[in-house]
Amino acid sequence: MGKQIETAIVKIDPVSPEVAVLKRAVDLLREGELVVFPTETVYGLGADAFQPRALEGIFLAKGRPFSDPLILHIAEYDELAQLTSAVPAVARQLAQAFWPGPLTLILPRGPHVPYIATAGMETVAVRMPAHPVARALIKALGSPIAAPSANRFMHISPTTADHALADLRGRVPLILDGGPCQVGVESTILDLSVDVPIILRPGGTSLESLRAVLPEVQPPARREAQSEETAQKAPGQLPRHYAPAIPLLLFAGSEEAIRSAMLKELRLRVERGERVGVLVADDDLPAFQSSGAQVCSLGEAANSAQVAANLFACLRALEEIPVQVILCRSFPTHELGLAIGDRLRRAAGSSVIQV
Ligand code: TXA
Ligand code: MG
Repeated sequence: MGKQIETAIVKIDPVSPEVAVLKRAVDLLREGELVVFPTETVYGLGADAFQPRALEGIFLAKGRPFSDPLILHIAEYDELAQLTSAVPAVARQLAQAFWPGPLTLILPRGPHVPYIATAGMETVAVRMPAHPVARALIKALGSPIAAPSANRFMHISPTTADHALADLRGRVPLILDGGPCQVGVESTILDLSVDVPIILRPGGTSLESLRAVLPEVQPPARREAQSEETAQKAPGQLPRHYAPAIPLLLFAGSEEAIRSAMLKELRLRVERGERVGVLVADDDLPAFQSSGAQVCSLGEAANSAQVAANLFACLRALEEIPVQVILCRSFPTHELGLAIGDRLRRAAGSSVIQV
């Protein structure tokens, strides 16, 4: 157990962050303390990347194993050089196209990067976030900020300051509240330390957009097909990484079949007196009205950006009611749909129902 501390939650302007609030955060980071801050993907639990003791604090506050490496966040492209021993041409090309934004690059580790940040590996994860608060904070600190998602280990990533507070109250001195995150899923992690660039975690930058710049980018390996070697290359990508505290049944198949299978399962459970949560899209709402379930729509099924932005908040809302089980439909896999499917499959574990 870490020490219990008072957690302050302070509003910050998401467009033009106030200098005084930034200073309060920077003073803490300099002292080796942790600060939760908004990024465009999810809230991050930040520490000065060059203070190994502060990095240790991240793992303790999250309850995260030291084998799960951290992403280092920079504010300017030039800061990349201090973190990696080599910047391949493709990295420059991708950074130009996607930074600042939800793309993390895996590169050879630079000699000054603490091993605790990379879980002892010779590669390092770097990203330049697009959120004005994140960039202003990194600039004001004058050092890269290491930050995993600001949730307890194995829980859902936070897309609001209140989510972070729910998980980390008493474990961090300061949470900067810049409002809800716009992307809503974590960054895409792209491994550039191998011959053919491969996505280790689908996220806020789509495979389609990456391939428009770099056609050889490989989609994430299917979990069943992952060799031990790839599994080790993506440490922390545990099957049940994004687990809500309650079981989630994921329905896969055609839209019509999914809807009727969900309704059938729902009726059975409601009859047994269970409190059931349902995650669907706007089009499904009429079918689930007065079904006796807690119904949550993620938006238009075809609008993957909208679905991604609502996903984690809806999961948390159902968890808070609390329902005893969540029934969830599948979503199209284009654009951010790849990340949405990945997070839902992880939340479902082995409970994927093919209809
Ligand atoms: O959008 C995001 O990426 C958010 C915000 C805060 O920037 N951060 C985030 O961090 O999602 P985290 O710690 O929850 O996930 C980072 C993952 C690790 O679990 C690990 O799988 C992968 O990044 N990772 C980090 N360093 C790596 C490395 N050297 N090689 C392979 N994977 C790495
Ligand atoms: Mg995380």
